[in-house]
Amino acid sequence: MNIYIITGGAGFIGSNFVRFLLKKEKESKIIVYDSLEYSGFPENLYPYLKKENIITPDFGKDAYPYRKRKKKKGKVIKTDSGLKKEIKKFINSDEGVSLIVGSVTNRDILEAVLEFSNKVFHFAAETHVDRSILYPHRFIFTDFVGTYFLLDVFKELHGSNGVFIHISTDEVYGEILKGKAKENHAFYPSSPYSASKAGADRLVYSFYKTYNIPAIIIRPSNVFGERQFPEKFIPLSIMKLLKGEKIPIYGNGKQKRNWIYQEDAIRGIYLIYKKGKIGEEYNLPGNIEIENIKVAEMLCEISGRDKKTAIEFVKDRPAHDRRYAIDGRKVKEMGFDYKWDFESALKKTFNFYKRNFSFYNTILEEKETKEFMKKWYERG
Ligand SMILES: NC(=O)c1ccc[n+]([C@@H]2O[C@H](COP(=O)([O-])OP(=O)(O)OC[C@H]3O[C@@H](n4cnc5c(N)ncnc54)[C@H](O)[C@@H]3O)[C@@H](O)[C@H]2O)c1
Repeated sequence: MNIYIITGGAGFIGSNFVRFLLKKEKESKIIVYDSLEYSGFPENLYPYLKKENIITPDFGKDAYPYRKRKKKKGKVIKTDSGLKKEIKKFINSDEGVSLIVGSVTNRDILEAVLEFSNKVFHFAAETHVDRSILYPHRFIFTDFVGTYFLLDVFKELHGSNGVFIHISTDEVYGEILKGKAKENHAFYPSSPYSASKAGADRLVYSFYKTYNIPAIIIRPSNVFGERQFPEKFIPLSIMKLLKGEKIPIYGNGKQKRNWIYQEDAIRGIYLIYKKGKIGEEYNLPGNIEIENIKVAEMLCEISGRDKKTAIEFVKDRPAHDRRYAIDGRKVKEMGFDYKWDFESALKKTFNFYKRNFSFYNTILEEKETKEFMKKWYERG
């Protein structure tokens, strides 16, 4: 029986990965470690996650100085020994997944949790470039310092045993105007998000080189699909269309992105975990390169709305990279291929948000989301 720790497993890619893993390895036990920031939801793991398996440890010191105290979910546990008892109970139960509501910036909780497994998939991060421009400190603490804590605890408890899969991003290479970045391409991150991720990516590598941590680094391109937080380009555009509002397009909309559907990305991550080599880095590109404006137009067509009235151009984001492009030879040689073409996956994604409109609309109507949207889209 494999026991996995999945940080950020209540977010978009992490939760889809957990759902995949539960089907792929029916005997496995999954401990999701997620602080439930604005983009993380226990609902992303329902019906696999039972409410009695949600635990909030309330001890230890959080290195992130600005964190607001949040509502505690599930069982609140005050001690390290109490938490370990709960995790043991879960491992001995028939359930497949539990959720520990904790931050990667809290070393004390990480120490208690990592004792149970040396198989870690690290998805947890602040992930929205726009937010990183408004609140860079959140990204530096979670994405960089949080990754350091996780590595350091892993080193202390497991040394070179097990596996540490780090989910990085194609954005670490920065803007690639021509050709495609191979894994050894230099890093030129342009936003506080990609710079924090670039720092984390290199920190993981340094822990492999210096301390023999069994790390593998994966750099996916833009992922889309079910359960993505509706501030990101594709789900935001879908929600705007469903609400009868306009899709906001930055600048002239000619920025090119390489997209991978979540099911393909997750299969790719699993394949790299199974077949990848410790100490190696793997790009995980998508199978389409397309301008943002073209994606918006395709979505208008899927929704039946007229692109002339359903799209508006808004002030561009500072340092907006015009193109990302990564070379996928290494992962292809491993046997990776796509099951989904962009258009079919886009339709499937559209239908998911249509079916779950009220859940995502409630999120968009929340005070926190509205405050961010107002601050961002109405900035001078
Ligand atoms: N979405 C993409 O297109 C994409 C592309 C390449 C790489 N990535 C990377 O994949 C990973 C997952 O991205 P996503 O799109 O699912 O993001 P997401 O924002 O949907 O999920 C992030 C999750 O991390 C959790 N989290 C945030 N801060 C935390 C903290 N301090 N401690 C513990 N948990 C915390 C959130 O609650 C959330 O559940 C990230 O590392 C991201 O950089 C994403």
